[in-house]
Amino acid sequence: MAEVKFYGKEAVPLEMHKVRIVQKLNLPPVERRLEAITEAGNNTFLLRNADVFMDMLTDSGVNAMSDRQQAAMLVADDSYAGSATYTRLESKLQEIFGMPFFLPAHQGRACENILAQVLVSPGSVVPMNYHFTTTKAHITLNGGVIEELVADAGLEVVSVHPFKGNMDIARLRDVIGVHGADKIAFVRMEAGTNLIGGQPFSLQNLADIRKVCDEHGLLLVLDASLLADNLYFIKNREQSCKSLSIREITRRMADLCDIIYFSARKLGCARGGGICIRSEAVYHRMRGLVPLYEGFLTYGGMSVREMEALTVGLEETMDEEVINQGPQFIGYMVDELQKRGIPVITPAGGLGCHVNAMAFVDHIPQSEYPSGALAAALYIAGGIRGMERGTLSEQRAPDGSEVFANMELVRLAMPRRVFTLSQVKYVIDRLEWLYAHRRLIGGLSFVEEPEILRFFYGRLQPVSAWQHDLVERFREDFGDSL
Ligand code: F0G
Repeated sequence: MAEVKFYGKEAVPLEMHKVRIVQKLNLPPVERRLEAITEAGNNTFLLRNADVFMDMLTDSGVNAMSDRQQAAMLVADDSYAGSATYTRLESKLQEIFGMPFFLPAHQGRACENILAQVLVSPGSVVPMNYHFTTTKAHITLNGGVIEELVADAGLEVVSVHPFKGNMDIARLRDVIGVHGADKIAFVRMEAGTNLIGGQPFSLQNLADIRKVCDEHGLLLVLDASLLADNLYFIKNREQSCKSLSIREITRRMADLCDIIYFSARKLGCARGGGICIRSEAVYHRMRGLVPLYEGFLTYGGMSVREMEALTVGLEETMDEEVINQGPQFIGYMVDELQKRGIPVITPAGGLGCHVNAMAFVDHIPQSEYPSGALAAALYIAGGIRGMERGTLSEQRAPDGSEVFANMELVRLAMPRRVFTLSQVKYVIDRLEWLYAHRRLIGGLSFVEEPEILRFFYGRLQPVSAWQHDLVERFREDFGDSL
């Protein structure tokens, strides 16, 4: 989206693309929505997409591709070994990141598996700005522990800090001092820090971390899954980068790192993943795991079609008018919700809009899963599927007691170029209605609670008849509207 000013008062983001393929959506009536969420055990992961109108569960593997990406998929070179498609992808990554070695993988967590198996051992410590669920799982599985060193502003729900994903450098030095540099497997920075609301870090912060890594001979690893959003924010929020192109900023970031890995379900709007590596020795240590877990070295579990789409998608990521669609739509949504007094994480980040359930339904105790309840209520109110990011997503302590999350959020992801502004306005409208009737929303309790990753499969029930009351109120206010 370009910086196009409007004559009228309304400032809206203007898309620099047109839609040429569409998918018909279904918005079931509110009574059916109540049935569907009941069938899904009040868990939005278990809803069927046929019952969902606005699928805002994630931006993983569901971003819209460009015409050029689709076209590139037709000229893919199908071969097990030595595919020309792979060579094109490898060359594009070398061109953009300037790292000589590349290993393909089927998605982001597969890269994390390889990194952790090679670099993490019992007793290892991995300092990072903030964890992502799969990252932490792979590090822990290999006997390591993580240290979350995000600066204090990162955990403030309401803030004006432009770089809430920054690492606290003093705490990084402390952690190295306490454990000793030989225990640090690597330092990890996550672009567009997912679990704290898609918040970016600054180029300056990365440079400061590099300095500390150099002092202690440590590897610096970048999780670039959400790099596109982070690039946009550096360009628009970091004074010293205003005159740099996205390509130049990318290269400056890459030059500070030893390893860059990514989920291509996010970066490059395709499906797949990979690890770019500067050191030949590290590359050789990791290489053997690719054929073992992923596939031969020239596809790594990705289809050639996806690799072609990714190559084009990576090039398109270097275009500010492509990568600004997500942050600008999210920014619009966050601004509009704030105007209506609806509690959201600020400033707006990438990935999606994060509603602060702790404040939205402050009458629901954390033991009754306020973000899970709000996610279920939003589905009933509008057929909108978000993702619970709160206590439900935590694991119980070994003694069976609940671990209450720092933040209770409902994440409404914004798949890139997928929704129109009127659809975003619809979500804002339904949230506004729900906020006006928030006292109708009640808590949830488990019916079936799996021991691990309970948020994926767990089934819950409302603690009272609140969902029926919500449906009744909907009919009173909206008549026979869907
Ligand atoms: N790193 C980050 C920052 C991520 O956001 C994800 C995935 C991964 C790694 C793992 O990549 O899914 O390709 O294996 N995030 C998805 C989400 C699942 O919905 O936010 P993957």
